[in-house]
Amino acid sequence: MMNKSEILTTEDGSFTIKNNLFDETYHSVNGAYAESMHVFINSGFLHLQATTINVFEVGFGTGLNALLTFIEAQKLKKKVNYVCIEKFPIDIKQAKSLNYDKLSEDKSAFLKLHTLEWNKKHYLSDYFEFSKICQDFTLYSFIQQFDLVYFDAFSYETQPEMWSLEIFEKIYKSINKNGIIVTYSSKGIVKQNLRAAGFFVKRLKGFKKRHILRAEKF
Ligand SMILES: C[S@@+](CC[C@H](N)C(=O)[O-])C[C@H]1O[C@@H](n2cnc3c(N)ncnc32)[C@H](O)[C@@H]1O
Repeated sequence: MMNKSEILTTEDGSFTIKNNLFDETYHSVNGAYAESMHVFINSGFLHLQATTINVFEVGFGTGLNALLTFIEAQKLKKKVNYVCIEKFPIDIKQAKSLNYDKLSEDKSAFLKLHTLEWNKKHYLSDYFEFSKICQDFTLYSFIQQFDLVYFDAFSYETQPEMWSLEIFEKIYKSINKNGIIVTYSSKGIVKQNLRAAGFFVKRLKGFKKRHILRAEKF
């Protein structure tokens, strides 16, 4: 599919992409950076105590969640194995026009996330192993277990197939005991499907919206 999209500036000054085919932005227009920090880093990554964390991201997109996780891993000296999947990769020209590179001390890290070869494991630092899979997540079979899943697909309204019971059952089986999944959505059907898949679902305060979800496997 052609990736017809444009760059937008969000309220905190960080950029995001608007995909005109799906008519969706990749982040909240109220702040791309602030939203990613709230939903995925503060409510997900920093919630786990372990010093080695296996992270799986559904929807690599702009790479912002991957970059923020890389920054935290460096800061906290936690070993992260980060695997992400993306069906519609953005092109390098678009990645270059995003203003995320200055977020990390290592200014080259952001672009590396985009230019590194797909379907291969890379070592960005002593703390960050990284692989991206170019595939449709609905057709994907996990080959390893994870502690943390960032669920960042487009909305339920746009892609109901991504938020189905079948999808959450697949994730549940691939999450370790005490592992979690975090997502920006708190829609009733999403909660219901997460619970039916076996997760204990908790509603947390949202970023400029009422709620987000963190679901745990006991
Ligand atoms: C809300 S955006 C978020 C992207 C990313 N996490 C970020 O911070 O930019 C959703 C992403 O999911 C990807 N996506 C949509 N359907 C997918 C599928 N079936 N399999 C894999 N990725 C998919 C989209 O192309 C898009 O990059």
